[in-house]
Amino acid sequence: MRVCIVGASGKLGQYMVQHALDRGYEVVGVCREQSVGKLDRFEGRIRLVPGPTNDPDVIRTAVAGCDGVLTVLVPWGVEGYATGTAQAVLDHAEAGARLVFSCGWHITLDGQDRYPWKLRLFVALFGRLARIARFADLDDQVEACRRVFESDTRWTVVRGSDLEDGPSEGLPVWSRHVGDPVLESNLTRRIDFALFMVHALTDDTLIREAPAIVGCTTPSARAHAGSARS
Ligand SMILES: NC(=O)c1ccc[n+]([C@@H]2O[C@H](COP(=O)([O-])OP(=O)(O)OC[C@H]3O[C@@H](n4cnc5c(N)ncnc54)[C@H](OP(=O)(O)O)[C@@H]3O)[C@@H](O)[C@H]2O)c1
Repeated sequence: MRVCIVGASGKLGQYMVQHALDRGYEVVGVCREQSVGKLDRFEGRIRLVPGPTNDPDVIRTAVAGCDGVLTVLVPWGVEGYATGTAQAVLDHAEAGARLVFSCGWHITLDGQDRYPWKLRLFVALFGRLARIARFADLDDQVEACRRVFESDTRWTVVRGSDLEDGPSEGLPVWSRHVGDPVLESNLTRRIDFALFMVHALTDDTLIREAPAIVGCTTPSARAHAGSARS
């Protein structure tokens, strides 16, 4: 399988590169020019297409011939970077390719999520301050995902809980709606978020789903193992 990783130089991206290589996949990475050095340890094992991830020409080149595209959607800046990135992938990925996007729990597919007050407060405060400071635009990630949800591609949008670093604990469990008891612990290892993204490429039950994930060894995942999806 040939896989393109859009946003390969970030923490999540680098973990995805490693998981994909571990599976024997051919990897094409896209990252901003100034971040190429972050991928030095993969030199000779992946093909790199440097450039802005919202540049349609960069994405067209990178996704050519790929069976799957893993895209890190980030809200940084106020120029619609996430929306441009998602649109470029939607427009240029091969017909029938598996498209897997990352985002946070604040994205909702059907409006049925029940958010903890802390998350609502964070989104409201961070969202407003970030936009005033022209540092980030959470609505950009929302718009990016809206376009993905409306597309007729074979998409999955993986919604990450709070993240921590550390060794893998295994494939996270997931549920359709934030507020479901299995997700209560709200914590996932970043390496396992990446594992779930790569896993989604070959799990057709995740097509047109927006799984909200949580670490498989967290207290809520253990307590509600029967209702968890994995
Ligand atoms: N952090 C959390 O607690 C959290 C929680 C839930 C979900 N998530 C989701 O997890 C995914 C990864 O998030 P992460 O926080 O762990 O970050 P990350 O993996 O380190 O990735 C950050 C990405 O953003 C890019 N980036 C940074 N500054 C940028 C800028 N000014 N303009 C354009 N791109 C820029 C980085 O590219 P360079 O390498 O070129 O800098 C990198 O590809 C995202 O989809 C996020 O929504 C995160």
